[in-house]
Amino acid sequence: MIKINFNPEIDKEKTTRILREIRADKMSGFLDLPKKMYGSKELQRVKKIAEGIRAQSDVLVCIGIGGSYLGHRAIIEALRPQLSKNSGIRDFLGLPEHEKKEVQIIYAGNSLSRRELDYALRQVGDRDFSINVISKSGMTLEPAVAFKEFKRKLIEKYGEAEAVKRIYATTDANFGRLHDEAVAKGYTCFTVPNNVGGRYSVLSEVSLLPLVVAGVDVDELLSGAAQVLKSPEAAVKYAWMRYILGKRGYDTEVFASFEPSTAYFNEWVKQLFGESEGKKKQGILPTSVIYSTDLHSLGQFMQDGRRNLFETIVDFPTDDLNAKVVEAVRIAHIEGRIPVLDLAVPTFNERGFGELIMFFELACAVSAKLFGVNPFDQPGVEAYKKVLHQKINGF
Ligand code: PA5
Repeated sequence: MIKINFNPEIDKEKTTRILREIRADKMSGFLDLPKKMYGSKELQRVKKIAEGIRAQSDVLVCIGIGGSYLGHRAIIEALRPQLSKNSGIRDFLGLPEHEKKEVQIIYAGNSLSRRELDYALRQVGDRDFSINVISKSGMTLEPAVAFKEFKRKLIEKYGEAEAVKRIYATTDANFGRLHDEAVAKGYTCFTVPNNVGGRYSVLSEVSLLPLVVAGVDVDELLSGAAQVLKSPEAAVKYAWMRYILGKRGYDTEVFASFEPSTAYFNEWVKQLFGESEGKKKQGILPTSVIYSTDLHSLGQFMQDGRRNLFETIVDFPTDDLNAKVVEAVRIAHIEGRIPVLDLAVPTFNERGFGELIMFFELACAVSAKLFGVNPFDQPGVEAYKKVLHQKINGF
């Protein structure tokens, strides 16, 4: 279990009320995912289809933005060094030895940069590939643009009939442009549960398909997440600690990791808190560093700059030398008058990341409630989408 080094005073009555409110919210489905997905028929189907993708392709292009891509990218990038060591695939897929290959996951549709899109198309090159297009609303511009381009490439390479068999659409079960196209063309479909918001969807089919294709042991991931729900106290304390610090004027949280492969995990955490909490002029600005790299850049500000920030160290088990840096940073920053919160993660593997995901999701929901905002909507993001759609005249 994740261990913490702080023990804030919490209002028990308020906590009980908040937890009850979260549970009763129509968007609280993320709390059910570990139990709902583990050993389920849906998960068996995901594994079977992932096996098919691995057999047919060298590359899986994952098209999506925000909550539709950050979660699985975070886990895949974090674990990639050890997945590769294991030929990129775990035995749980039951494939014969000669089929144990590393399927590369390439990401697209998370910006509107033509340069990035061309680069992603070039990266795929002449290799065999499939597409997993992920969009809950099925209406978001960035993935729609990338999907159009990759679909064209797929049809050019394989012809219309075979291309259809290589498109996997993850979207709403009933509505949206992507849903309608998927039904009309006959793509293989996965659903984003309608009681789970994008940034809370990591443990749903949104991420499970690319994760299994990449060789991640999703059973372990789900088990880790379930563990947190059995004892949510640490997540609740962390939410209170942030809230108390926020009210004392510490308006910026710096997530610090000492493992470079967790850079995308930082991006996911920032999205989770930023989109859930930054409303009604409330919330804590989430930002991140990777040490020791950033000790030679942002480290100066951390040690000696404006004192409006606190640091949350996501502390994975590590080698001796790196552990010494963790200790040194902790001492130096406390001396520099930064409140340092420690989250000691027991293992750097699927189970550890499963725990972290549920820990942060639950803490984020509680924290947003403490700040008096709705953790599950994103009116600011919707406002941007609306203006953009008007500007490009209904692309
Ligand atoms: O968390 C969220 O709701 C957002 O970040 C969405 O995931 C993001 O805007 C993408 O939306 P969609 O999946 O509808 O394309």
